[in-house]
Amino acid sequence: MAEAEDLKSSQYGFESRLPYQPSVSLVAPLSPCENTRLKGRISVTMSSNDPAATSADPTVGTLHLTDSRTGRQFELPISEDSVPAIGLRDIRVHEEDFGMLSYDPALLNTAVCHSSITFIDGDKGILDYRGYSIEELSSNSNFAEVCFLLLNGELPTASELDLFHAEIHAALDMPESMVKLHAALDKDLHPMSMLESALAALGGDFPESDEVLDAEVRHQQIIRLLALTPVVAALGFRHRQGLAPVAPDPNLSYAGNLLHMLLGDPDKPADVHPAVERAMDALLVLHADHEQNCSANAVRAVASSRVNPYSAVAAGASALHGPLHGGANQAVLEMLDTIDSVDDVPAFLESCKNGERRLMGFGHRVYKNYDPRAKVIGQLAGDVFDVIGENPKLEIARALEKAAMADEYFSSRKLFPNVDFYSGLIYSALGFPPRMFTVFFAIGRMVGWVAHWNEMMSDPSTRIVRPRQLYTGPKRRPFVALGDR
Ligand code: CMC
Repeated sequence: MAEAEDLKSSQYGFESRLPYQPSVSLVAPLSPCENTRLKGRISVTMSSNDPAATSADPTVGTLHLTDSRTGRQFELPISEDSVPAIGLRDIRVHEEDFGMLSYDPALLNTAVCHSSITFIDGDKGILDYRGYSIEELSSNSNFAEVCFLLLNGELPTASELDLFHAEIHAALDMPESMVKLHAALDKDLHPMSMLESALAALGGDFPESDEVLDAEVRHQQIIRLLALTPVVAALGFRHRQGLAPVAPDPNLSYAGNLLHMLLGDPDKPADVHPAVERAMDALLVLHADHEQNCSANAVRAVASSRVNPYSAVAAGASALHGPLHGGANQAVLEMLDTIDSVDDVPAFLESCKNGERRLMGFGHRVYKNYDPRAKVIGQLAGDVFDVIGENPKLEIARALEKAAMADEYFSSRKLFPNVDFYSGLIYSALGFPPRMFTVFFAIGRMVGWVAHWNEMMSDPSTRIVRPRQLYTGPKRRPFVALGDR
């Protein structure tokens, strides 16, 4: 059987995308050539008499390419400001060559899918979920509504929201396997490692989740993951402290229940200030999705093998754990702990500029402007600190931001505070240790991961993710027996 099969279409089938049709115009014949890795240049033109150049849709047209190695000319169809990378395969020096690849190791300029979930304009600092701005959603909506929106494309009506709550509440029962798993885990294990293990292990409790092409089965797993992620995260948090788990309270909001399971007693609900619950809810909203980020890409790549979603989101959580991604919120607090006072800020910044370290919580692959989430979190921090008192590290964080924003090193590279710069200060003010911060990020991001998973599994054009490489190792050579080496 072929390694990669097209996915069956489902009732949620998205518009099928036409596969690339080769569109090569051979102006010059192939010239005989020794080296198939010949260096050359591809020159790109858009001819003015191309009918597509005057088309009403400016995102559609034809890209004309000339290969300087052979003088051959090629055409690639432009659609949605992109060209199909597979079209490059027709560009070769010899007929028997493999053909040209695009080289993009960190996927800097590669669109891997069509998606209708989240829109980012990094130059303008815009983030929208399904067309609604992050600023409006974080101040006027709540996490349950945002989950429904991300999963279904529209904000829920009151009855749809009631049903969604009821589905989540019905799925809150923690499987016994989770208690056993945590009992076996070392208390000092990083809580993200606990969460990664727990998410993968959950797949064993729900074997029907292997039916990833069945839309109804997918829906059940999505509800379970939204319901159980806070439950297992709280179990891990309490296990680290040697505390018994607190049962979920279905009468509370999503954020309220999370705080209750983290901070309550088995026989007494947690006493959580409404402003704190509201702040936690807004933080979950702000982290809910961020289109094709490192962890969403990990989920997509793993899920493309059609493994169950628990294994796929465990891979997402593992990607999130890293300090360049979601682990940055922990790293920011640890960084602030090394700066004793505002007077030490200039020297610290200097060490970031000379490459000794990175200024954690700064910079972003996509945002070349202020991260809109960081702006909202900055305001949120004020609300929380009004209620529970200022975090002494806030003054240092503000001084760092001010100094970095005024510094040519950061401005010329368009490095601004990102979502992780201030979020840790809020979690820390709520009394949580830095190692828990990325767990909160993961709880919020779970809905994004499963929304992308559902979108890709509903798309009949989805295929297994399998990149190519540029091989740099030795050519085939004869094996040398141990005694002869
Ligand atoms: N401190 C100092 N210099 C930096 C930083 C930083 N935080 N971020 C980027 N640079 C410099 C980098 O050294 C490079 O300089 P040069 O051109 O002289 O070599 C230039 O800026 C471009 O950086 P890059 O590493 O090529 O950028 P990238 O797009 O590959 O990486 C990033 C993006 C987020 C990994 C990076 O900015 C970074 O490491 N930031 C700190 C970690 C962090 O806060 N991560 C959280 C990201 S937001 C949460 C999420 O959604 O993941």
